[in-house]
Amino acid sequence: MTMEKLILPDIKDLHKIDVYESRGGYKALRKALGMKPEDVTDEVKKSNLRGRGGACFPAGLKWTFMPRQTTKPKYLCVNGDESEPGTFKDRQIFEFNPHLMIEGTLIACYAVGIKTAYIYIRGEYGKWIHKVEQALAEAYGRGYIGENILGTGFSTNVYVHKGAGAYICGEESALMNSIEGERGYPRVKPPFPAQYGLWGCPTTINNVETISNVPVIIQNGWEWYSKIGAPKHPGPILVGVSGHVNKPGVYEMPTGVSLLEIIHKYAEGVPGNKRIKAVIPGGSSTPILRGDELEGVSMDADSMKAAGSAVGTAGLIVMDEDTDLIAVLKRISRFYHHESCGQCTPCREGTGWLEKILNRFLRGEGKKEDIDLLMDVANNIEGNTICALGDAAAWPVQSMIRRFRDEFEKRVASPRKQAAEEIAA
Ligand SMILES: Cc1cc2nc3c(=O)[nH]c(=O)nc-3n(C[C@H](O)[C@H](O)[C@H](O)COP(=O)(O)O)c2cc1C
Repeated sequence: MTMEKLILPDIKDLHKIDVYESRGGYKALRKALGMKPEDVTDEVKKSNLRGRGGACFPAGLKWTFMPRQTTKPKYLCVNGDESEPGTFKDRQIFEFNPHLMIEGTLIACYAVGIKTAYIYIRGEYGKWIHKVEQALAEAYGRGYIGENILGTGFSTNVYVHKGAGAYICGEESALMNSIEGERGYPRVKPPFPAQYGLWGCPTTINNVETISNVPVIIQNGWEWYSKIGAPKHPGPILVGVSGHVNKPGVYEMPTGVSLLEIIHKYAEGVPGNKRIKAVIPGGSSTPILRGDELEGVSMDADSMKAAGSAVGTAGLIVMDEDTDLIAVLKRISRFYHHESCGQCTPCREGTGWLEKILNRFLRGEGKKEDIDLLMDVANNIEGNTICALGDAAAWPVQSMIRRFRDEFEKRVASPRKQAAEEIAA
């Protein structure tokens, strides 16, 4: 399946405003400013654009949750915290097409009646923070941001906020606390951000890639957009492929491309033509799939759900036949243990226990009962925490045991002590 690239086209220097404008950039903003705000929201709603930040939530519908009549200021947070292992696609937008994201941000602000937007960028992304700041300065210079945008009377300011170096700050309510200067603790919901967000005011949070789809929709219309890719989850999607592939990278494609096509055509297959043992399809939190169950599974919400996993952030991690999956799971569990904010007991304690039990297997001390114990700990985390970090820690463990129980049993039957570095990793 081929498609003209809409989010990351191969155009030299597209990050510069002159080049961006010469390729039709900011025309969608002009068009949106000539429409009624509610019609802009309606266009995005009808396009069926679904969030690219993990949960695939319909973007236009989310915008309608924002109150129209309110005396309070309203806010937009563009989420570029991008800290989940296996996920590295938003930084491509920061680097190669930041004006598309800025244009989308402005259109969203106009549609929802927002006068202040924050682009929250992972703190370690120094180079990309700089690129986005440069692009914002250019856009201010041309009158696309600020007071009385393009003489229409509409005003919005856009600020970059550097992330605080923690995965949890990508969770939308922790992100808002972080912007407020508080510790990045997730908030109890309800109230939801559209009612009580930043500084207690109505707030919408959208992922960088989600927002970058908005100018494409406004420019071409919802009907055109909704015909791209999978009908119930349409549009272009950035798939980050890593692990055992010949050509890892971020590939733009329509939703609905099969995982096998992504691995073999886009990423040019597995080195040495080895068998695929497993894939994690959408970033480290999404349930693992066996290599022999990939036939017919594609990168869209319905197909992935039917297969027992999720699109997540479309960060596809490929593992060949020689991969030690218990070491992989231990590495993932260590990440969630380290990143747990510690507010909720099941997550704070449970993630630590997952890591400890998995380390027992790596030391050659894993027992048969430990397999069920792992499952039990994961089941007690899932659904019992304020935010979805707990679920994100539980799903890889649950899915690994469901699909690869034999790997654990083999390790119990023939224990071996792994190198100290692997246990520490
Ligand atoms: C622990 C955790 C980390 C998250 N990190 C990110 C992130 O880095 N970027 C992101 O867009 N969404 C992240 N999310 C999801 C956000 O809470 C939110 O759903 C998303 O930004 C909404 O955008 P969307 O509807 O456009 O996808 C994270 C969620 C959790 C639970």
